[in-house]
Parts: sequence; structure tokens; C-alpha cells
Amino acid sequence: MQRRDFIKAGAIVGAGAVMPGCLSASVKGKDRIKVGLIGCGGRGTGASINMLNADQNIEFVAFADLFEDKIGPSISKIEAEAKKKFPNQAKNIIDPSKVQRFSGFNCVDQLLSMKEIDVVIEATPPVFRTPHYKKIVAAGKHAFLEKPACIDITQARQMLALADEANAKGLSVVCGTQRRYHRGYQEVIKRVQDGAIGELLSAQCYWNSSGYVGHGQHDAMEKRGILKGLQPDDMEYQIRNWFSFIWTSGDHIVEQHVHNIDVIMWALGDNRMPVDVRGMGGRSTDLPTPLYGDRFSHFAVDFDMGEGLRIASYCQQDPKASDEVGERIVGSKGIMTTALWGSACKITDHKGKVIYMPTGKMAQCMEMEHKFLLDAIREGRKVNTLKTLVNSTLLAIAGRMSAFSGKKFKFEWMMRKSKEDLVPKQIAFVKNPVAGVPVPGKYKLV
Ligand SMILES: NC(=O)c1ccc[n+]([C@@H]2O[C@H](COP(=O)([O-])OP(=O)(O)OC[C@H]3O[C@@H](n4cnc5c(N)ncnc54)[C@H](O)[C@@H]3O)[C@@H](O)[C@H]2O)c1
Repeated sequence: MQRRDFIKAGAIVGAGAVMPGCLSASVKGKDRIKVGLIGCGGRGTGASINMLNADQNIEFVAFADLFEDKIGPSISKIEAEAKKKFPNQAKNIIDPSKVQRFSGFNCVDQLLSMKEIDVVIEATPPVFRTPHYKKIVAAGKHAFLEKPACIDITQARQMLALADEANAKGLSVVCGTQRRYHRGYQEVIKRVQDGAIGELLSAQCYWNSSGYVGHGQHDAMEKRGILKGLQPDDMEYQIRNWFSFIWTSGDHIVEQHVHNIDVIMWALGDNRMPVDVRGMGGRSTDLPTPLYGDRFSHFAVDFDMGEGLRIASYCQQDPKASDEVGERIVGSKGIMTTALWGSACKITDHKGKVIYMPTGKMAQCMEMEHKFLLDAIREGRKVNTLKTLVNSTLLAIAGRMSAFSGKKFKFEWMMRKSKEDLVPKQIAFVKNPVAGVPVPGKYKLV
């Protein structure tokens, strides 16, 4: 083990401690839990819908988004779901005439100043998770945080400290790594940890897909006139097109592929960090930059985990590339394969014969993660899964740094010495020149 901050093994960690009396988040038992949403885009709206499907004894009381135009549609979608699924309770779950709406750069402070809010859903672009979670902890609120945890090592250090601070304050925090709440994954990984595939020899994880994610979003906004008058070096353009820029997203190895890295880390017991990291990657030459941002379109990373074990990680967003999303661990006695879609979670022998495959209905894992959080809050238990997400995000950050620079380095060097800080000094609607797509050999490790 290379880090002091390692997490104890287990499917879902951190459960069990009884909460001391804490700040404004002091809900108990049958109380209606008051929820505030920060980031009213696709996932924030989706997570709110998942939460109300998991537990109807909640009330959405406030919505915050940098852009005012995102709030109304989000409220309407959440209200429509509540009315469709729970017509008799919909008014209690969300009443658009009563909810508070906050926009602009102060929106998060305004929402967090509402004493009645118990839980916050944070689903803004990755770069804002750390500064927002700092405010959420200071305000004494429980939280559901989307992935990834952060975008660079500087933020990762802050998030590790905030995870401890939340614990000390008795605040629960659950993260959007939904595979950890999927029964198929849980059953298979439990067996891997119990030795079903023998000694673990190698691991692979993939998020290879056939489209550059930022492309579609950009073109849809352009069509609706939202980007009118904005240039790629405008910060507003970059935040609206956050999928496409390194500083806003952390690049897709951090923003998206963290899911698959997280599964491998979980299966390994959440207590091993890499020794060496060696990544490579690039950007499709027909992807205009900075119009469609400055991110790479593909990465391949070799994580040397010590004791002969390596994780091979691949992620790609290239037009017409083959889709492949999932994880695999090869052991001395068999192979684990996992994926969210279809009946892909299984253990086979080395010839492909199925040794174990979970059967039966799988509960919606994106609802189970909210149930896990809300049940804990009601029962006065503290749950905190933030460090597992920070650890997985750290691997993705290290892979990106290695691929951008072309350098192999010790993970421990990054943890102790790296000063990489990708966040612009001023976050405002100002000009923010784009440095260009990183060039291995020129991009400096700092
Ligand atoms: N767990 C999952 O499977 C999953 C799936 C999709 C997205 N996500 C994650 O959720 C997050 C949001 O993704 P999305 O798809 O909803 O993006 P989105 O662009 O649809 O939504 C982000 C919202 O945040 C708002 N925003 C931007 N900066 C803000 C700020 N400083 N303060 C307040 N609001 C701000 C935007 O206006 C937008 O409405 C990302 O981190 C993404 O990785 C997770």
C-alpha cells in the first residue's frame, strides 16, 4: 500500500458510524428530507428523478445553476416524473410555485444559505465539484456528489481533506459510481474478493465509444442559438461546452472512464494504489480545435500495481470506433467480466465456461445509490464514499498526466510532489485563451 489514505475493502464503504448532532443537516426518521439541486443539467435532473423514485418522502426546495435557462426545464422534468409515478404525492415532492431558483456565480452560496436544506445533489461540471463541496461541508449539508471527484491533483488533495472534514462533522456523502450499487457487480466482485478466480494476475478496463461526446452537445447548443456571440476562448463558451475542455472536465479519461477504473479499484479491495504509471494517447486530426475543445480523443494507460499486477486502461471517443464499455480481471483460476448493460457480469473459467452468473431482477442501481444515502440519513448513520471516488479519480488523473507528457512516473511522485493545477485563477465570463491540444514531449509534468 502506497498511501496513508487507503480505504478498507468492501462493496460500499464507510457505513455504520452514528452521527453526532451536526449543523443544518439533522433530519431523522420519518421527516421529509429537503433537497437542493446544484447543476440542473442532464445528470442533475436525472439524479433528482432517481432520488424521488428511490424515496418519495423528500421535497425539492431549491435549484441552483450558473445559467438561468437550465433551471425551468429541470423543474418541469422532475415534476412530470413525480406526477406520472406518484400522482398523489407529487405536490409534496416538488411544487414549482414554491421552489427557490438561483442562478449566476453566487447561486451555490444562495442555495446553501437555506437552513431547511438537508441534502444537496451536486452535478455540475467536474472542475466545480471541489469548490462546491467545500461550501457544502462548510454549510453542514449531506451530499450526493456526481463523478468524477475532481480534475487534478491539487483538487484531489482538497477532496481527501474534505472527506475527513465531512466525517468529523457527521455529514454523509455518497458518490455517483452507480456500478457499486448494481447487484450483478456486487455478487461477482464479492466472489472475486473471496477467491473465486484465484490469484489476481491482470486487469483491463474500457470505455471505448463511437462518438466524441462534446461534439453533439456543441452542435445542439449552436442550433438553439445558445452559443451566439461566443468564441472558444470565452469562459462562458468553455463552461457551456464543458465536455470538450481539459480544465472543465479533466478530459474523458477522468470524466467518464473513471467509472471503469473505479470498478477495478473496488474489486482489488480499495486499498492498492499504483507504483508506476505509463500512458499514451492523442486526438483525432479531423476534430477541429478549439471549436470542439482541447481534449484527447483516446488514451491507453498501463498502471503497474506492484506484485506483478497491472491494470490496462483504454478509453476512446472517436467517430465510428467500436463500442466497448466494461471491466475484466484475469485470475489464476478464472476470469471476471463486468458491464452495466445486458447480462454481462459473470465469472468464467479460462475457456469461457460460465462458473457464476447472477440471475433475477436487478434493481435500478442509480436509484439504489440514493436509497443508500437517504436510509443512512434517516437512521442516523454516517456514510462516506468520497475517498474511494477520489482514489479512482487519482488514477485517471495520473493516466492523463502521463499521456499528455509522454512520461512514465511513480504514482507516489504525483501524490507528494506534483503541483499540477488546471483551474484558471479567475472564474468569470472573461477571456480564457486555450493553450491547444497537449503534445507529448512538450507538455511539462509539474
Ligand atoms: N454517474 C453517471 O453515470 C453520470 C452520467 C452523466 C454525467 N455525470 C456527471 O455529472 C456531471 C454533470 O454532467 P451533465 O451530463 O449533467 O452535464 P450538463 O452540462 O447537462 O449539466 C451541468 C449543469 O451544471 C451547470 N453549471 C455549470 N457550471 C456551474 C457552476 N459553476 N455552478 C452551478 N451550475 C453550473 C450547467 O449550466 C449545467 O446545467 C458531470 O460531472 C458528469 O461527469 C455522471
